[in-house]
Amino acid sequence: MSEEFDQAFWEERYRGRTVACGRQPNPQLVAEAADLAPGSALDAGCGEGADAVWLASRGWQVTAVDIAATALRHAQEHAETAGSEIASRIDWLQADLTSWKPAEDEFDLVSTHYVHAAASRGALFDRLAASVVPGGTLLIVGHHPSDPATASHAATPDVHFTAEEIAADLEPGRWDIVVAETRTRSATGHDGYETTVRDAVLRARKRHPDQRPSG
Ligand SMILES: C[S@@+](CC[C@H](N)C(=O)[O-])C[C@H]1O[C@@H](n2cnc3c(N)ncnc32)[C@H](O)[C@@H]1O
Repeated sequence: MSEEFDQAFWEERYRGRTVACGRQPNPQLVAEAADLAPGSALDAGCGEGADAVWLASRGWQVTAVDIAATALRHAQEHAETAGSEIASRIDWLQADLTSWKPAEDEFDLVSTHYVHAAASRGALFDRLAASVVPGGTLLIVGHHPSDPATASHAATPDVHFTAEEIAADLEPGRWDIVVAETRTRSATGHDGYETTVRDAVLRARKRHPDQRPSG
């Protein structure tokens, strides 16, 4: 049966602590952003803030957006525990990504991980892509269709995708695809058990308007 990933759904999950967010940054973010020079970053669907805190600890100025107030409260506490300098580099914003529109050409890095918004992902990813500055990076991580950990959500549209599908939807001629891969890793689920996760990872670099395609 298809699920409705609306605000009430996420609030309930964070209040019940049934989201497997944790305090560790996503390994795909660490792998893909560690070599980027810090600048401005948008973490879209930041959850309890592990990615935003990791980015801020590396010198990024982060705008971290989520629909769930409870998640943002936990995230802010996490950032304060990490230290006032790190906390001061993060702006937390409660907003609905299905309608919130970031400014165009605004962020050096736009990163979004497993956002199952209650709307089609196409328009959402278009808005996120538009907010990357020329020369900046778009990092989209989601559940691959073969991901065993989220197989129960198979009937819900937009939960699963491949990196190649997302790459094909980017504005033609505007992007260099740096990574479009499926990656398998182990993770601890919210039930505390080890599980296998299969991620779709897209990393793309926005071309400057006068730049020719590379390769
Ligand atoms: C599976 S969690 C992933 C959290 C975090 N990115 C991570 O990787 O740990 C999905 C997050 O997206 C947020 N979210 C879902 N729909 C949203 C929307 N329409 N606007 C903003 N945030 C949303 C949820 O509240 C939740 O924190």
